Amino acid sequence: MSDKPTNQALLDRRLAHIPQGPFNVTPYFADRAEGAQIWDVEGNRFLDFAGGIGVVNVGHCNEKVVAAIKDQAERFLHTCFHIVMYEPYVELAGRLNELTPGDFAKRTLFVNSGAEAVENAVKIARYYTGRQGIIVFEDGFHGRTLLTMTMTGKVKPYKFGFGPFAPEVYRMPYAYCYRCGFGLTYPGCGLECAHHLETFFIGHVAPEQTAAVVAEPITGEGGFITPPKEYFSIVQDICRKHGIVFVADEVQTGICRTGKLFAMEHYGVEPDIVIMAKSLAAGLPLGAVTGRAEMMDEPHVGGLGGTYGGNPVCCRAGIAVLDFIAESDLCAKAARIGQIAQSRFLDMQERCSLVGDVRGLGAMLGIELVRDRKTKEPAADETKRLVKYCHEHGLVILSCGRFGNVIRTLMPLVITEDQLHEGLNIIEEGLNAMAGTKA
Ligand SMILES: Cc1ncc(COP(=O)(O)O)c(C=O)c1O
Repeated sequence: MSDKPTNQALLDRRLAHIPQGPFNVTPYFADRAEGAQIWDVEGNRFLDFAGGIGVVNVGHCNEKVVAAIKDQAERFLHTCFHIVMYEPYVELAGRLNELTPGDFAKRTLFVNSGAEAVENAVKIARYYTGRQGIIVFEDGFHGRTLLTMTMTGKVKPYKFGFGPFAPEVYRMPYAYCYRCGFGLTYPGCGLECAHHLETFFIGHVAPEQTAAVVAEPITGEGGFITPPKEYFSIVQDICRKHGIVFVADEVQTGICRTGKLFAMEHYGVEPDIVIMAKSLAAGLPLGAVTGRAEMMDEPHVGGLGGTYGGNPVCCRAGIAVLDFIAESDLCAKAARIGQIAQSRFLDMQERCSLVGDVRGLGAMLGIELVRDRKTKEPAADETKRLVKYCHEHGLVILSCGRFGNVIRTLMPLVITEDQLHEGLNIIEEGLNAMAGTKA
């Protein structure tokens, strides 16, 4: 018998000491994790299709990353980059300047989280343009601080009761082809949703008062909505025409998830500013803002920064992540995972009427569940049941989306093909257990 506390004992303590606001998707407490697997305190083993919400693309406890963290921890933990500088910050910044899309001079700023990176991208765009307006998209998610919560599209649970919100944030429809807000169908639509930006300026905010358009290449929390391949180049052309900074929030899509280092590469677009976090440091808190040198250099000395931003241990982890990606050809692995998972999901769609849509790029795939394929009534309760089924059968997985009816894949990209099929089998069995199954 183990002398470790049980999940229930820890849950009782969690409920006694921690507010309910910080949500918990499963009732389990982790003991250790490796690759694409997690073991809880009772010795139960789980396959991980959530990756701590897209954070461990290089795998849990990636050896290279752990070694770099240990080495740096023994040298120094913190001097504050603003007080005594250190090489890992400079090295990682240089690498990201090289690796992000666009063959132009760039600079990188490090912060502590995705939300903080979004906040800083907005500060920089406003300073550079001397304008205030920020255009974001329906179904977008950008964080939980005042500004990023304002920029986030979904009211419950993210915004409800937390107003008033930050000013000068405007929201336009996204390219949600499965539920097109314009009632059109791709490709006959002519990408009306992208061209709509010009009309949006008439009724919402003038282009000469707009600092930035901030877009996720694929909506993460918003349901893995994946715009058509022409979408972002149209949006960026309109931004360029009006001197608006085009910002890509790659917090969830970045670091190989979609089969490319950055998802915007699929769209052939070179954003002015790229925002990163999550898998950049494999579990340590690190956010990055990489952008055109002339924009990044604009804010005055002391206008950007923070006590912990670009902590040396986090930067060493980030460097190890980039080394591992190059050595292991991780983007190709993500593409392969995507091929396997997509063909399994399409097969499930053939046989199970609940699966209304299968979408995504590389290993960032979502299946949207509906009660009726014609009316597309969201199957939110069924999705909850499916997620619970997966958890109870050893697969950690997350839902997302406007209606909470999308199942998404964020597995570590080091997952073996056997483990991948094992996880997909659990999803399939779960679907079979739900209503609407033909097989
Ligand atoms: C696209 C996107 N932007 C920003 C954030 C906020 O990141 P963080 O939770 O690190 O503040 C998230 C988090 O899920 C995200 O998915």
